[in-house]
Amino acid sequence: MDTVNAQTTSMAAARSHFPGMKDCTYLDLGGRGLLSTEVRAAIEAHLDDAMRGRVDKDRLFATTEEARNRFAQLINADPDEITYTKNISEGLNIVASSLDWKSGDNVIVCPQLEHPNNIYLWLNLQRFGVETRFIDHRNGYMPVDEMIAAIDKRTRILTVSSVSFSPGFRTDIDKLGRACRERGVLFLVDGAQSVGVLHTDVKASNIDALAVSTQKGLLALYGMGYLYVRRPLAEKMHPPYVARFGIDMGKADAHESDVGERSFKFMPAARRFDLGNYNFAGVCAAHASLELLLKLGTKNIEAHAVNLAHTLGNRFLELGLPVCGGKPGPHIGEIVTVGSYGSGGDKASSDEKMNKLYAHLSANKVKLSMRRGVLRFSFHAYNNMDDVERVIQLTKEVFSR
Ligand SMILES: Cc1ncc(COP(=O)(O)O)c(C=O)c1O
Repeated sequence: MDTVNAQTTSMAAARSHFPGMKDCTYLDLGGRGLLSTEVRAAIEAHLDDAMRGRVDKDRLFATTEEARNRFAQLINADPDEITYTKNISEGLNIVASSLDWKSGDNVIVCPQLEHPNNIYLWLNLQRFGVETRFIDHRNGYMPVDEMIAAIDKRTRILTVSSVSFSPGFRTDIDKLGRACRERGVLFLVDGAQSVGVLHTDVKASNIDALAVSTQKGLLALYGMGYLYVRRPLAEKMHPPYVARFGIDMGKADAHESDVGERSFKFMPAARRFDLGNYNFAGVCAAHASLELLLKLGTKNIEAHAVNLAHTLGNRFLELGLPVCGGKPGPHIGEIVTVGSYGSGGDKASSDEKMNKLYAHLSANKVKLSMRRGVLRFSFHAYNNMDDVERVIQLTKEVFSR
């Protein structure tokens, strides 16, 4: 079997793990991903244990470590470089709060393309005299060259989302990563809209820190996330909060209630940011989901999802629809958006045709979202060409009226 066929076969098999695909045409990964039957079973098994008094804490800790290892493998990191968080905001805030800021330091960010959760934390540093350098977007594209040009000797952090939540274009992470590494600037990435579906290699891309939550590309639950911090940086950082699991007790089998000496040593790398008990339901979900993602392989998932997104974009263009960014190229990952970017909010567009299309698709069980006035279609391993055809057929119904 050739590679493409092998890939199509395993993706086709993946779809059968997601019963949600029988109920609707799910194209809203940008909002949240679907749960697989295995993920649901893992959560249920945990809940059953809790209900029947069968919780085995040692097993839960083992699952927590295995899930950490799996996430590390997914992004080509070392497990020590991964900590548990509750969401992306917390991951980003851990990084922001762990540095010793000096008045006159600056942070570079493109406000129009970031989620608010990657904006306010920087403004909150004004009390230390830290300047937030806002760089304007370039027609929906991350202004990579302008951001690099804005770096100076006082730049401590440059932060971007790997794919914007709207209009959903990919950021040239590799170029920014190289520039930041050369200049000693911490490169902090919000991976909300890419990790789990687009292949991510923190080493190859020179990413210093990466924050994700588990409900989107990682196909698990809200309320949990991971933060990767590159070892040499993590080991210079001071955690804003400190608790038992971030402390090195000097022996692997130390009990969670052990108290050591009055002095203490942090756990290696990003483990120092671990706090108290974990979100075990979230851990069980991510543990099961990461197993499937690793089996499928993120290079395969990316090729599959990007092919679907590009096909949908091209088909929309043939119908004369305004696809953001025009003909799909390297700027399009697993998200395609349609409409006039910035011409509305997340409920309605100022373009009546887009509102009609959104209403018709929704009425016919196509799950998608609207952000900043554009319709957002986003793909993962569970999608296939039937989903693209369904959207095109419904779109024709609206535009041929
Ligand atoms: C790019 C991006 N960052 C962050 C978030 C959410 O942040 P948090 O996980 O802190 O709720 C989203 C959610 O939609 C997002 O699209």
